[in-house]
Amino acid sequence: MRNRDVADAWSNYWHADRADSLIASDSDRAAINAKWQAFLAELPQSAAILDVATGNGSLAVLAALSDKKFAVTGTDIASIDPAIYVSKDSHALKNITFIGGCPSEELPFNEAEFTAVISQYGFEYADRNIALSEMARVLKPGGRLMLLTHHRDSEVVKPNTAQIEQITELTERADIFDRARKIIQTTPISTAAMRTQQMQGLDAAGQMVLKRFADQTKVRILQEVFAGIGKIISLPPQVTVAEKIHYLDDMLKRLKAEGIRLQGLSDAAMDEGDVEALKQAAVNMGLSDFSFSSATVGADKALVGWWITAVKS
Ligand SMILES: C[S@@+](CC[C@H](N)C(=O)[O-])C[C@H]1O[C@@H](n2cnc3c(N)ncnc32)[C@H](O)[C@@H]1O
Repeated sequence: MRNRDVADAWSNYWHADRADSLIASDSDRAAINAKWQAFLAELPQSAAILDVATGNGSLAVLAALSDKKFAVTGTDIASIDPAIYVSKDSHALKNITFIGGCPSEELPFNEAEFTAVISQYGFEYADRNIALSEMARVLKPGGRLMLLTHHRDSEVVKPNTAQIEQITELTERADIFDRARKIIQTTPISTAAMRTQQMQGLDAAGQMVLKRFADQTKVRILQEVFAGIGKIISLPPQVTVAEKIHYLDDMLKRLKAEGIRLQGLSDAAMDEGDVEALKQAAVNMGLSDFSFSSATVGADKALVGWWITAVKS
């Protein structure tokens, strides 16, 4: 996938009042945050911390809220400006230096600038070996690395395949959007009979898509898209054709962006062999004490990723 498309897909996502992307519940977040807080508690006062692929800065904020007065920087390939978009913890966000348009493979810092480098579901979206060597480069000797990454078998990654298939069907194969566009464009001149025929055609196309995914219990995306298209088509006549087409195109654009984000998530997920390979590569990057373990949350130990730690030699 091209970096430009990835950056665009995520930029749109982060230009909204949302703090993080993938943590399912408040209790999961609390469990994950506790682990981060234990790591931060071991860092010296005023430590310089880099949060890689920070998104809207949910992890960077955690560091900035510490009373240890950390100097926190967050980088991301997307164009980000959390202090403008996010209302929660706005004061802490203003104390963080955010750098958008910044691939993890090319961190714009000198060697040994940071006491700690962290990343939450972020570093692994980049070329992992290059990003890890960049993170090692900017760490001070003795500096610490801690990552929470996607796990191939995690609850976050598993449901993805079905959703990606549904989005691909809607955006690349089925003619749902073309049919809806035609209906809107011909509204001013269409007769009742023509309209009925068009709507029946759209409905049949929708049924075909649903049938294709009949074996899947989760058809959330399909249902949301069909409902959304229905709403746009039935907007009152005061809404112009151009406006309706704009809403439809915007919906298609957002759907494609979601497809890119979900595909990125699947591609980023690591199995044990991937993490082992990273461990081998880390030695040549000047990282020692590389260790990893499954990240789980809750009494049922739901798998949510890999915890990875290392120290700059
Ligand atoms: C799942 S989000 C995680 C964001 C944030 N760390 C959090 O916990 O909410 C993944 C982030 O990785 C970023 N990303 C994807 N590819 C990247 C790359 N090559 N370099 C830097 N950031 C990248 C995306 O823009 C996105 O913000």
